[in-house]
Amino acid sequence: MADDSRSGFTRRDLVRGALVGAVAATAGAKTPAEADRGIGPGAVPITLQINGQTHRLTAEPRVVLADALRDRLGLTGTKVVCGRGACGACTVLVDGNPVCSCLLLAAEVQGRKITTIEALASDGRMKPIQEAFVAADALQCGFCTSGMVMSCKALLDRTPKPTRDEIRHAVSGNLCRCGTYPHVFDAVERAAGIRTAEGRAHPPDGTPVFQTLAASRTFTSDQRVDAGVAEALDLEEA
Ligand code: FES
Ligand code: FES
Repeated sequence: MADDSRSGFTRRDLVRGALVGAVAATAGAKTPAEADRGIGPGAVPITLQINGQTHRLTAEPRVVLADALRDRLGLTGTKVVCGRGACGACTVLVDGNPVCSCLLLAAEVQGRKITTIEALASDGRMKPIQEAFVAADALQCGFCTSGMVMSCKALLDRTPKPTRDEIRHAVSGNLCRCGTYPHVFDAVERAAGIRTAEGRAHPPDGTPVFQTLAASRTFTSDQRVDAGVAEALDLEEA
């Protein structure tokens, strides 16, 4: 039999150490079942920071933010259309970034700064981007409008003077089945002061807007509108 006592560390010590280690590891680690256990499935308390106010609710962890806003907190300005992240109608801002609230769990945005369309108007007065949407006639059925406005707000917050391409990109996740996009672009440019209240753009070189439009002859994709605008421009030039 080998002499394990020469180093002062015997086989008995080794076995004892292994056992102690195993017991300690078992005591400190969670079992697989414990590790897999998250919150729920029953209702849990959830605290949300929405439009500068703290809201407390009790909801199952599976409840998405859009439903929590609309069904639990009465903030129905946020719309749900597809419910699967395809249309952008449910767009709200989380920490200033536009997100689809139908794809986020309410429980996972606790502690984040959530902004909904309700935050934009105060004392019965609309924010400039909302007024610009009205002035530019940038809505028809209105299903996309809340989300569209929130995406545009997020853009203007980070880029006060966006280019047309930046506006297109900002609303590229917002589906408008009514085809209001040209009016939405117009609204954002009005809100940004790029376009006058009358809807006339300020060309960088100072060229009068009607002259610019007449030269390009690119108005909208609707041929009926094109014909009408072209006729109006011809009258203007005559
Ligand atoms: S309802 Fe959320 S993306 Fe369509
Ligand atoms: S205004 Fe109808 S979907 Fe955009």
